[in-house]
Amino acid sequence: MPLVTTRQLLDEAAKGGYGVGAFNVNDMEQIQAIMEAAKETNSPVIIQASRGARQFAQDNYLFHLILAANELYPEIPIAMHLDHGNSFDTCKSAIALGFSSVMMDGSLKEDGKTPTTFEENVAVTKQVVDYAHERGVSVEGEIGVLGGIEDGHGAGGSGLEHVTDPDQAVEFAERTGVDALAIAIGTSHGAYKFTKKPDGSVLKMDLLIKIHNRLPKTHLVMHGSSSVPKDLQDIVNQYGGKLKETWGVPVEEIQLGIRNGVRKINVDTDNRLAITGAIRKVFAESPEKFDPRDYLKPAREAMQKVVATRMVQFGQAGHAGDYAPISITEIAKGYANGSLTTQPLVAAK
Ligand code: G3H
Ligand code: 13P
Ligand code: ZN
Repeated sequence: MPLVTTRQLLDEAAKGGYGVGAFNVNDMEQIQAIMEAAKETNSPVIIQASRGARQFAQDNYLFHLILAANELYPEIPIAMHLDHGNSFDTCKSAIALGFSSVMMDGSLKEDGKTPTTFEENVAVTKQVVDYAHERGVSVEGEIGVLGGIEDGHGAGGSGLEHVTDPDQAVEFAERTGVDALAIAIGTSHGAYKFTKKPDGSVLKMDLLIKIHNRLPKTHLVMHGSSSVPKDLQDIVNQYGGKLKETWGVPVEEIQLGIRNGVRKINVDTDNRLAITGAIRKVFAESPEKFDPRDYLKPAREAMQKVVATRMVQFGQAGHAGDYAPISITEIAKGYANGSLTTQPLVAAK
């Protein structure tokens, strides 16, 4: 089956009332872990690569690994998505490579650190939407800015500094025509999101619901949505790691989001923790081992377990066979003839 677009995948998720995890990858083992989890749970998947991942793995390695996954698991719909594209050119290069979906994160300037103005964000996102839609590729935009810094990307600070303004979310969706909209509701990238179990004062689910009520047909995206489970933190620390006490986004809050328009949920940190914990365990318990397979295999299994669990919790499990993929050429026609409208349904205030 060809790669599917996130537009189709998220439209189907909206019909079925479930969310779809978007898992970050940098290497073969992470792709294998996701695909085995998808097979185990019969789930459609979004595999995403950041700019850092593209540099680390090199575009061609990364993309051909996805093509291999596509060949090996023909029954699983796979969308290949660029995470946090920082410019028109970055998005264009991902589209040229064959990605079926890109994120233009115009909430930050090209340096990936400095927040942009609303008008700058609209302009660059619309430029990407026009280019991508002509080619049938889906676009995610971001309004509001997440907290934290990952691999040099991010404005830093707490997640509460630039939460999304609902009026701006509506205007942004209308003017750009994005297929999915990432909003900032207090989460941050990385392991250090909250200093205690988050309540409504730091994790603004009420704001998410408000935005959903104004944009009832827009697919919302939650970034920084790792749950940072205590058991994964404990394994890392038990075997020599030094993680400080921290809290992530509780799964029940994500499920509340899914009941209120969230269709794409970005998860990276939980998998990083699972992999690191598993590798540390082998190093600590069997210091005589030096064959990478001895620690990469348990690492891959640990990630598979996390991904499969999230697929069930987000509700995508069981939905891999619900639909046949629409080719990006057909999708492009849909944008051109208006049947895939890019105008969101906006509810009155
Ligand atoms: O958005 C952040 C993702 O966790 C990707 O992180 O830029 O370090 O690859 P990265
Ligand atoms: P986490 O750091 O919470 O896993 O978030 C990942 C993310 O949002 C990738 O875009
Ligand atoms: Zn993100």
